[in-house]
Amino acid sequence: MNVLMISPGYPAEMAFFTRGLADVGATVIGLGDQPAFALPELARDALIHHLPVGSLADEGAVAGVVHELARRVPIDRVECLWEPYMILAAKLRESLGLPGLTVGQTVPFRDKERMKLLLDAAGLRTPRHAGTATVAGVWAAAEQIGFPLIVKPVDGAGSADTYRVDSIGELNDVLPMLRHVPQVSVEEFVDGEEFTYDTICADGRVLFENICWYRPRPLAAKSHEWISPVTMALRDLDAPDLQGGRALGAAVLEVLGFRDGFTHMEWYRKADGEVVFGEIGARPPGGRTVDVMNYATDADLFAAWADAVTNGRISQPIERRYNAASVFKRANGAGRITHSEGLDRLLAQYGEHVAAIDLLPVGAHRRDWRATLISDGMVIVRHPDLSTTVEIADAFATDLQMYAG
Ligand SMILES: Nc1ncnc2c1ncn2[C@@H]1O[C@H](COP(=O)(O)OP(=O)(O)O)[C@@H](O)[C@H]1O
Ligand SMILES: [Mg+2]
Repeated sequence: MNVLMISPGYPAEMAFFTRGLADVGATVIGLGDQPAFALPELARDALIHHLPVGSLADEGAVAGVVHELARRVPIDRVECLWEPYMILAAKLRESLGLPGLTVGQTVPFRDKERMKLLLDAAGLRTPRHAGTATVAGVWAAAEQIGFPLIVKPVDGAGSADTYRVDSIGELNDVLPMLRHVPQVSVEEFVDGEEFTYDTICADGRVLFENICWYRPRPLAAKSHEWISPVTMALRDLDAPDLQGGRALGAAVLEVLGFRDGFTHMEWYRKADGEVVFGEIGARPPGGRTVDVMNYATDADLFAAWADAVTNGRISQPIERRYNAASVFKRANGAGRITHSEGLDRLLAQYGEHVAAIDLLPVGAHRRDWRATLISDGMVIVRHPDLSTTVEIADAFATDLQMYAG
């Protein structure tokens, strides 16, 4: 099978999916705005051919290059796991007559208002919401929905430009900061715990599923630099308090007509047990969560995705052996990393449960923690028992400190 992989080497995780495609026997052709020599070696080695384009945003030029290729080589699939080019992938599929999400099916995955309207129509629980492009529209929505509420872009990512608003005064303060956002969703603020529901599907069947527990909720993690955000893949998906979220996620896939590939959903569980849908992407979760899921299962989910989209199955056995958690670190101070404290003690106590350590070295410039969840580095820990995993993750969150100056 010949697979056209859009942006095969960027962002960094794409190279692993590209490699996965080659591993399961696909013939992989790359298409992207990196020249072949600039691709990560992993991606370059997996490609039989690479089509460099000046910009993936130039849809006309990209379509020309792809159709030229398609005249010489049959293309069986167009895959894209990078959010900004999902619509491009859908357009190429439609024009080549290939299976997979159409443009119309892709839009709800990119527009949070469209997504919620579809789910509402199917009777699934979303936050009360309104979409608007005007300041007057936000005020009208606030009046109708009430405080506390959330204002966020309809096509946001990484909690960017997302605000919890508790009062008229706060809304007055927040509105000027949203001037550059063309379309916003105003939503009822849903208090509770926040989880993911991630799947790999083929032919509309869920072949692999995963739930991560965010500690704390992403908006809180994004609001306070001192927090070390934890994303914990849970071992026991049969736990009674996860069933509502699983069922909701499965229903969402059905309503949106998703059939093949990776999805990343988010849902909230209120104190009274009610579950509320958050959002969905037709792509894997970011922030190295696929690595976390790999450590939870000892599987290769990059290849499992590739197997699902090319062969309609997952051949490797996948067993949930551990809870696995990523702990992201943000250094104290600005500038370059000077030192860290606590790692030796933590490794002496928990070393056998540490699956990966990837912290910025001394001398490296701090990353922008608001722009990237990865921040100044991360540790992945794992353990079969949930409360022990929480204990270990919390220890790395609080007792490992990095400093910059
Ligand atoms: N209606 C809501 N109620 C409570 N928290 C919300 C709501 N909408 C968003 N949030 C918070 O903001 C974060 C980012 O919003 P989300 O819709 O997931 O967009 P993004 O694409 O930026 O991840 C969520 O993870 C959650 O913590
Ligand atoms: Mg989100």
